[in-house]
Formats: sequence, structure tokens, C-alpha cells
Amino acid sequence: EQAGKGEYDHFMLKEINEQPTAIAQAIEGRIDPARGAIDLDGFEPGAFEDIDEVQFVACGTSYHAALYGATALNRIGISATAMLANEYSVAAPPIDDGTLVVAVTQSGETADTLNALRSAAAAGAETLTLTNVIGSTASRIADKTLLIRAGPEIGVAATKTFSSQALMLVLLSRRIAADRSGERSGDRRSLLEAVESMPESIERVLDRSGAAAVARRYGDSQSYFFIGRGFGYAVSLEGALKFKEITYEHAEGFASGELKHGPLALVTPETPIFAVFTGTEDEKTLKNAEEAQTRGAPVIALCPPGHEATEIADEHLEIPETDATLAGLLANVQLQLVSYYAATQLDRSIDKPRNLAKSVTVE
Ligand code: G6P
Repeated sequence: EQAGKGEYDHFMLKEINEQPTAIAQAIEGRIDPARGAIDLDGFEPGAFEDIDEVQFVACGTSYHAALYGATALNRIGISATAMLANEYSVAAPPIDDGTLVVAVTQSGETADTLNALRSAAAAGAETLTLTNVIGSTASRIADKTLLIRAGPEIGVAATKTFSSQALMLVLLSRRIAADRSGERSGDRRSLLEAVESMPESIERVLDRSGAAAVARRYGDSQSYFFIGRGFGYAVSLEGALKFKEITYEHAEGFASGELKHGPLALVTPETPIFAVFTGTEDEKTLKNAEEAQTRGAPVIALCPPGHEATEIADEHLEIPETDATLAGLLANVQLQLVSYYAATQLDRSIDKPRNLAKSVTVE
């Protein structure tokens, strides 16, 4: 097992560091920034022209990637919802002719997600799965499969698969827009250039993260809160899930705007707030963070250098400048590292957290 980890103490850290490669593999041959083209293997031009609405179903970390994808679609005017797969069976939204149901599942074997996928297919939806495993059950059920090509992930806590899923969903969203409305290729050029630079941007985060120092400073707090808006909301949920999975400490992710509607009652000097700034209504998120800070909570801002949040924040975890659609993914890498170092300090079983499994094949 040690041999598989190479120079790293844990698979999780190895996989966090593999993200530049994983992303490079995911996008290889699939984008051409100069032409503004997104070529998803197996999907002819126009493959998505009849899609009016996308319903994502997923669990755990994959659900957060799904939420990221739904945000990407809604922001460009295509209706999308992300549902927890285990809730989909209770009350699935209606399916119409133009509904595409996308099951996001790195393993392709999660029972809850497979059930949702089967019921969507039975209801007549067009189905697609975004997965890391060729020939998985999900890919056998779905009409179409899109592979994230992240390579094997051993750590139970998903890291590189999340980044690859979310990035592929950003590409899928723009491909659907192109097929449906003939979105001009020029409109995609700058995003695709930023996508092409993602491996390098992630590398920069990994090279000088600052996460270990933050984990040391706040490692004995009572609870850890994560806030953000839009893409930053999906990342906040993922940051908190990762933190609780591997540290066993209490962590929660909130939409920044919701903090004042209840969670603020929990805020004390013992509850550090990780605030994710992704260029979407950042001034509002900053105000929300300040409200927590006034109650004594230390604020750790995830934002580019020179961002206004750095003026008030107690700590700054830097993310390189990029397209607003992708900034959340860079913030997420920082949060993965914070969780990792916090868990190391507590001497937790990082690659195999108690009570959890890599893939849950029961309902
Ligand atoms: C388990 C894992 C999570 C994962 C979830 C969904 O609960 O512990 O890390 O996110 O399953 O897995 P999937 O394979 O469907 O992405």
C-alpha cells in the first residue's frame, strides 16, 4: 500500500496533488479555445439541441459537483436542478420531452443514484451518467456516458474526482448551450482558455497553499463553518463535508445569504468561518462574513490577491485569478488541504474514515 502512495503519507494527499494531471486528462482533446469548441467524445454536434431542462441526481460529494453543474446551467439560462438521489425517489420532478437526467457518480455503483437513474429512464427521460468508471452499472443503465478520466481514487474522501466532475459539468453546460441556441463560439473562448490553464492554476494553489498554517491555528475550534454564493455555495457544502468526513469535527456549509436566517445563532469566537469568494456578489458575501466576525468568529477568506475581502479577513487563502465559473474549484483545492492538515493534526484515519465507504451499494 505504501508503494502506491509514492512520496505521500496518504492517498488523499497524493490524489489532491494529482488534480492538475486529472484535469489535464479530463480536457485532453475535448476543448479547442481558439475555435471556442467543446468536443465531448461520443456526442455528435447538436446532440443536446432538444434539451430544455437538466435534472442532476447524485449523492455525497458528487451531489456537490451536481450543484456546481446546475449553477453553471442556470446562470446561462438553461433550467437545471440538482437533487439528492435518495430524495429523487420520494418526489421526482416531472419529466418532459426535453428533460435530460444526469447521474453524477464517480464509482457508477451508488445504489441511491442507480435507483434514481432507473426511475428517470422508466419515466422516459433521456439519461446520461458522468462517471470515472468505464462499464460501471450507471453507464450500463444510462443512454450516454461521459467519462471524467480522473484515474483511480483510493482515498474514501473524494478529491480529484470532484474537481474533474465539476469541470466536466461546466463544459457540458456550455456544450448544451451551444447545441441549443447556437451560442457563439467567441462567447466560450475566454472560459475555455481559463479551462486550459486550470492544471497550472491548481499547481499554483498546491505550491504555496497556506492551508497547513490555517489548520494549525484553528485546529482546536468547536465548529467550522463554510459560506459562499452560487458556485461558492456548492464549494462551501463540499468543504464542510470533506472536513467532517476526515476530521470527525463538526462542520457545516451554508449559503452566505442564509447565515442571518438562523446559523448566525451558532457563531462564536470558537467557530471559524471559511468564506469562499468566486466573483459572484462578493460584496454581499463579505458583508455576511463581517456579520460573523462582529460576533467574534475568525474569518478565513478564499479569494484572489488584492481582493477586498483580504482587508477584513483574519486569514487569507489565496486563489489565482480565473474565470468566475472556475474560481470555486481553486478555492475547493485550498479547502481540501485545510481538511487534510486538520485531520493529520488530530491523527485521524484519513484514507479510511470510520463508518464510511468509498461507494455505498445499499439504500
Ligand atoms: C460515498 C462516499 C462519498 C461519495 C458518495 C457518492 O458516500 O463516501 O465520498 O461522494 O458515496 O459516490 P459516487 O461514487 O456515487 O460518486
